[in-house]
Amino acid sequence: MTDIDSLRAELEHQSPRAILKAALAHYGNIAISFSGAEDVALIEMAHKLTERLQVFTLDTGRLHPETYEFIDRVRKHYGISIEVLFPEASEVQELVNRKGLFSFYEDGHSECCGIRKVNPLRKKLKTLDAWVTGQRKDQSPGTRNDVPVVQVDSAFSTGTEPLIKFNPLANWSSKEVWDYIRMSEAPYNRLHEQGFVSIGCQPCTRPVLPGQHEREGRWWWEEATHKECGLHAGNLIGKAG
Ligand code: ADX
Ligand code: SF4
Repeated sequence: MTDIDSLRAELEHQSPRAILKAALAHYGNIAISFSGAEDVALIEMAHKLTERLQVFTLDTGRLHPETYEFIDRVRKHYGISIEVLFPEASEVQELVNRKGLFSFYEDGHSECCGIRKVNPLRKKLKTLDAWVTGQRKDQSPGTRNDVPVVQVDSAFSTGTEPLIKFNPLANWSSKEVWDYIRMSEAPYNRLHEQGFVSIGCQPCTRPVLPGQHEREGRWWWEEATHKECGLHAGNLIGKAG
């Protein structure tokens, strides 16, 4: 088993590409969790490093049409398959029939995110040894400041071997990601041309105004410290709120 503390010390100050390269070298059964701009940067780097790139995305059923179009454009641009994961129909049906289609505005997003994102993610992660995300430290005030480049994902580990989570872009700013996207002419979600920065589900995402933090466009009716949907539950361990 790889010693994650030493690997982190070794990789902490390396480039995202070098971190990805090490991730792919250490773990054969590893996949990129794809949804947005950051993840395209990861795919752009990784598709040149391996021929067996695994990429998955969580289709909550509530994404913008532009996001579906973007997912398909990325698939074609890189000639890769992207595994689209869906929630359990019975769980969605039960929630919607009990509470309607917009319960998250009334009692918070965790129940809906749990059914539409976290449960399908948990199922997928059981099949992997490691996963790669596009999380950045400056992406979310209060919850992502300490995101390391590699960590044991205790929130999703099952069985005897711990699940490993790589965040190769942890130390990059949004500007660095976007400079890289433009330089490599990677595809991006057209919603970014309309003021959207951080993009999630359609009912829970809105554009931000100049000077606003990108996270203010997500679950804007909730406290900043609650703005994690459970995919990165480990970020909340030890935080207030
Ligand atoms: S979220 O937890 O608030 O929704 P965010 O949008 O900031 O996450 O994205 C952070 C990382 O989580 C992305 O770079 C990606 O790796 C992963 N992620 C977020 N949403 C999805 C999704 N729908 N499908 C797959 N991965 C996702
Ligand atoms: Fe549901 Fe909103 Fe979470 Fe999407 S972001 S799963 S619509 S609560």
